[in-house]
This record gives sequence, structure tokens and C-alpha cells, in this order.
Amino acid sequence: MPALALDSSSWYQVEIGPRLTATAEFVFLNWSGLAGEELVSHLYRVRDQAWTVSKYPCVGLWMFLLDGIAGFPQFPAILEIAKQPQAKIIDLGCGLGQDLRLLAAHGVSTENMWALDIDDGLWKVGYDLFRDQTQMQAKFLHADFLKVDPALNQGLSPLRGEVDLMLASQFTHLFDWADQLTASKNMVDLSKPGTMIVGFQQGRETARAIPRPWGMMFYHNKDSFLQLWDVVQQQTETKWKLDITEIQLKDWGMLDVDVAWMPDDHMGLNFILTREA
Ligand SMILES: C[S@@+](CC[C@H](N)C(=O)[O-])C[C@H]1O[C@@H](n2cnc3c(N)ncnc32)[C@H](O)[C@@H]1O
Repeated sequence: MPALALDSSSWYQVEIGPRLTATAEFVFLNWSGLAGEELVSHLYRVRDQAWTVSKYPCVGLWMFLLDGIAGFPQFPAILEIAKQPQAKIIDLGCGLGQDLRLLAAHGVSTENMWALDIDDGLWKVGYDLFRDQTQMQAKFLHADFLKVDPALNQGLSPLRGEVDLMLASQFTHLFDWADQLTASKNMVDLSKPGTMIVGFQQGRETARAIPRPWGMMFYHNKDSFLQLWDVVQQQTETKWKLDITEIQLKDWGMLDVDVAWMPDDHMGLNFILTREA
């Protein structure tokens, strides 16, 4: 019964090894003014600070340094949306907020950015990680995205039907099927025709629920993700173009040792969901 027995030490890797990608180096250099040995020692210090706050694999396995959405072939199109004048961008389950910094390092203004998380701990560490307490203008929304009613929440209500780009990396996979439906419908509430939802998350070749320390996770394959979004579209009476790619975790940049605790059918899903109507 290994799934239940797993604890967070299974996904803690001490050494940074080859995990510092060119993408991350670009962001730290251009947004934070950090490079070389200074950057590496900074990363060791702040990563361990982040681990005391939150014991997710994205922290323990240095996944905040992956190429992530910058590795998508559609990254130029994502940037184009983000750079539209007054484009509104929200990072859901933002954690450290590296995806917002990625856009910022590519010249996207942070003035119309929002970051939402149930816990503000990683977001606060993010200011230290990116040394940008004064230049990062994104507004942090402290909310449980499963319980929040966007119509009633002071921070979210002005964003209903207004968001151009939603970032949702390693977020909704944390939940079971029913909660993923709730979260996805809340995303639709914030969207308008043309909105893009972008992210990547863990999947399994055989879609199934697996228990984790924070709750029951439903790991999708492409078919089950499409099924979920069929239901979302029916229940919200919206139409979305669903571009979902199954990918090997090594193609995200994960090492063999990073995935050793996972079942053999581990994989990742990259998704770009574009609202058509
Ligand atoms: C695995 S981390 C991913 C962080 C970041 N998006 C990334 O790609 O590294 C998941 C984040 O979602 C947040 N989270 C979990 N449940 C949430 C909820 N119900 N509402 C809002 N945020 C939640 C966690 O606090 C955590 O920061």
C-alpha cells in the first residue's frame, strides 16, 4: 500500500544538480539581477526556507526552476496575450509565483497581475526568492479557490468575466474530481471569450485518484481531462478549445531520481484551454 505510506520526504532532493534551467537563469538575471554562484547559494537558502513553509513536490524537487510554460511551443502566443495593453493575468495556486516572474522577465507589466493561494506562505517567500518586494506589483488574494464565491469575494468579483490569462500550473491536480470541477467552473466564471488557461500538472497513463498528505488527488490522462472539461462546458454553457498534451516528466526536465517515488505510469499534462464562446 505504498501510496498512503508516502510522506513528503519522498520528494525532497537536497542537491540542485542540473535542475537550474536556462529559463530560470534568464528570469533570475533579468528580473532579479541574480546570477552565477550568488544565485546558486541564494537558491539553496530560499528553497529550504520554502520547504519549511510548504512540503509540496514543486518545492522539494526544485520544480519551480523547470521550464514550465516557457517550454510550451505556444509560449510566444501566451506572451502575446499577456502583453496586450491592460491584459489581466491571474496565477491560481500561485505558490512562489514563478510563472508571474517568468512573464515579468519577458517584459509583461506586473500591474494587472493577481496571485491567488489558500496559503500566503510561499507567496511571501517568493519576494525573497525573486528579490522583488518593491518592483512586483501583483496583488495577492488569500482565498480557498474551492470555497470562494467569485461573485461575493471582494478581490475576485472585479475579475469576473475579465481575466485574459489564467495560470494554473500544478494546481487543480491537487484535488479530487468533484473539487476539480468546482475549481474549473470558478475559472470559467473569471473568463471571457478569448481567455486562455495555461498550465502543466502531473498525470497518470491510467487516470485515477491517489491519496496524498494534502488530500485525494485525481491524476488525469488526456481522455479524463477532456471528460472533465466536457462537463465543465456543459454546466457553464461555454465552449473551449482544449489543447492537451501528454508528456514524459523527463521532458519537463525532471530527473530519474525525482520520479523514483511515483508509479510506473507517471506522466505530465501540458494544457492550453482557450475560450471560444
Ligand atoms: C503544488 S503547489 C504549485 C505552485 C505553483 N503554481 C507552481 O507551479 O509551482 C500548489 C499551490 O496551490 C495552493 N493551494 C492548494 N489548495 C488550494 C486551494 N483550495 N485554493 C487556493 N490555493 C490552493 C497551495 O497552497 C500551493 O501553493
